[in-house]
Amino acid sequence: MRYRQLGASDLRVSIISLGSWLTYSGGVEKHQALACVHKALDLGINFIDTANVYGRGMAESVLGEALAGIDRGSYVLATKVFFPMSDTDSGLSRAQIVKQLDASLKRLRTDHVDLYQCHRFDEEAPLDETMEALTTAVRQGKTRYIGFSEWPLDKIEAAAKMPGVTRFVSSQPQYSMLWPSPQDEIFPRCADLGVGQIVWSPIAQGVLTGKYTPGAPPPADSRARHASMGAMLPKRWLEAPVLTAVQQMKLIAEKEAGLSLSQFALAWVLRRREVSSAITGASRAKQVIENAAAADCEVAPELFARAEEILAPFR
Ligand SMILES: NC(=O)c1ccc[n+]([C@@H]2O[C@H](COP(=O)([O-])OP(=O)(O)OC[C@H]3O[C@@H](n4cnc5c(N)ncnc54)[C@H](OP(=O)(O)O)[C@@H]3O)[C@@H](O)[C@H]2O)c1
Repeated sequence: MRYRQLGASDLRVSIISLGSWLTYSGGVEKHQALACVHKALDLGINFIDTANVYGRGMAESVLGEALAGIDRGSYVLATKVFFPMSDTDSGLSRAQIVKQLDASLKRLRTDHVDLYQCHRFDEEAPLDETMEALTTAVRQGKTRYIGFSEWPLDKIEAAAKMPGVTRFVSSQPQYSMLWPSPQDEIFPRCADLGVGQIVWSPIAQGVLTGKYTPGAPPPADSRARHASMGAMLPKRWLEAPVLTAVQQMKLIAEKEAGLSLSQFALAWVLRRREVSSAITGASRAKQVIENAAAADCEVAPELFARAEEILAPFR
């Protein structure tokens, strides 16, 4: 495994990390979730991402169980707040940040997280109230650092200019060969502000493994076929022209780079130095093994350029 610094923090995170969105919120059996987490730690993955809203607490509870008894200093734990936890609980008000962080810590069975992230921007809560509440959480030692996910650039800049509050160190955007847009503006601007990128769905929810083929039904054990998880997969990524292009890329990955397509797609994400970690999902431990190996893959830029050209109409 390799590690990179997370923005201006002193956190060193594995460049391949493990998330828990659809998978450990009920999408896969608990024993599979525990096996994935333990395999990840065995392979040197030290960064685990979750959110209070994943299964309304379920993913955090599963991680709390998976991580119980493991040296707390040996892994970097991140969670998030914003999306509704009940009809009356959502957003980034001071009251919600206090309440939701305490509830997350209880489920995660720890007295602190390393990174507490605002899952989206809250148009209802004043930004200074949110930033002050996050600053208090840092001062109390309940989180070491703070971050955001998918915030608009003007709000990122407003938070960075606010006096007397803790600075964000991380940004969590969607980023993959099928979703490259954050690299244009968000990456360079955040780099100037000491904010690193920890990117989600880096293999486009499994589409960039090449396991979905044009004209064939999705494999029975895949996310696309799963009753709840499949609903979150954009339908256009499963259309024949996209899948045909992905199969062309798979040939480049396997025959010319000597990698699986998922490793090739992860190496593409990690070619940008602003990316501190690619947050992968895994429904079984063998996927964790394959994806973790991407940390050591080198790919000629010319192969990436050809792959980008193939996908260009669909990005
Ligand atoms: N901030 C946000 O708003 C946000 C939003 C979404 C996600 N996230 C974070 O990002 C994490 C990752 O998202 P994601 O799960 O969509 O990531 P992903 O890594 O793009 O997709 C993961 C899924 O692809 C399939 N897969 C993974 N490796 C594979 C392999 N080697 N071979 C074949 N199939 C493979 C598995 O699904 P199947 O086996 O079921 O097909 C797996 O669950 C989340 O867990 C969460 O922590 C954040």
